[in-house]
Amino acid sequence: MRYANQAQAVDRAARAMDEDSLSVTTFDRPRSGERPRESPTTTINCWNQWSRLRHVIVGRADGGMAQSPEHGFPDRSPGPLPQFMVDAANEQLNNFVRILEKRGVRVDRPFPVDFSRMVVTPEWTQESMFGCMPPRDVMITVGNEILEATMSHRSRWFEYLCYRPLIERYFRDDPDMKWEAAPKPRLTAESYKRNFLAEYWKLPREERMRKVRNNDLLLTEAEPLFDAADICLFGKDLFVQLSMVTNRAGVRWLRKHFPHHRVHEVTFDEDLPFHIDATWIPLRPGLVLHNGERAADPDLAKFFRLNDWELAPAAPPAKTKTTLPRFCFCSPWLSMNMLCLDAKTVCVEASETAQMEQLEKLGFEVIPVPFWDVAPFGGGLHCATADLYRDGCLEDYFPQRYGRF
Ligand code: ARG
Repeated sequence: MRYANQAQAVDRAARAMDEDSLSVTTFDRPRSGERPRESPTTTINCWNQWSRLRHVIVGRADGGMAQSPEHGFPDRSPGPLPQFMVDAANEQLNNFVRILEKRGVRVDRPFPVDFSRMVVTPEWTQESMFGCMPPRDVMITVGNEILEATMSHRSRWFEYLCYRPLIERYFRDDPDMKWEAAPKPRLTAESYKRNFLAEYWKLPREERMRKVRNNDLLLTEAEPLFDAADICLFGKDLFVQLSMVTNRAGVRWLRKHFPHHRVHEVTFDEDLPFHIDATWIPLRPGLVLHNGERAADPDLAKFFRLNDWELAPAAPPAKTKTTLPRFCFCSPWLSMNMLCLDAKTVCVEASETAQMEQLEKLGFEVIPVPFWDVAPFGGGLHCATADLYRDGCLEDYFPQRYGRF
């Protein structure tokens, strides 16, 4: 019953949407070597994370719930973040939207539901939901397809509802768009290792790293699970991080689902891996920004170098664990969680001066965007966005094979 009400609320919001605000000029899907043509309808097209961005979703902080890994996955018991924090975050999100629009990027926003409500499936009950600040976690555009991730926290099971009014519209407007949702996960107790985190944090770091490398983490292999933000898009190659929220079955599902891509499992030396975008960020063909504190699997680094990719270690973050905003469950490395507008222009958090300087030295125009008030709602500039249209088409940036890659 509750769920029915929420679905109705989303429908109402969708109907109330200002039709005019969405009927702006966008572009036809280009073929190799062609410039995009103007067309009056929406087009979904995205093959990498650095080509010229033209259409994107930016999340909202409304109703966001506090999350804390200390509460343990999946049975956290968070409450709503205070209104002054919601307001501060929304102000920064709205400012980011204005910056993007000034740069000619079309921006759509999700439709929040009441995240403080309990959610129920026939197999479990969860006290509350999460929010809709980070669309990056929930959906990914690959070519002309939008794929909704399984998600792997019970609190995020229904999050796709916030994006459905948008996705339904794209589906209506773009005759070539493919709309897919990965199998809805059951997320019963079978999907999680009992007491995992409590035991995990007692282990010496070496032992934890061994578990990370083997993906012997929170999730079992009972069913395919992944969050979209564990996927990194490099043309024909998709790199998927095995993490606390993505299991091997999830990667296997993605591999079968994208038969024309090469889908690779990757890991890094990180205690609490979830979402690849504070660890490994492509900036332009041939250049990846990587997190020097989180060494890549040696074969992954070799594979990149063999294909003439430079791996630049990201500049040190301005924040430390102790100066992170309250309730932020991400690391200071949100400093490298940036959004590329094209292969020469990048949005970076405005207080991350070392990071901005590094990018300028690498030849980028840097657009500073104040964003730390958004962090408690689920991340940085990259998390807060979901790419819908970037110029370009499918290309192969890794002609040389190496080992398992
Ligand atoms: N695990 C990352 C860190 O704390 C945060 C990544 C958040 N990304 C996202 N798409 N929500 O370093």
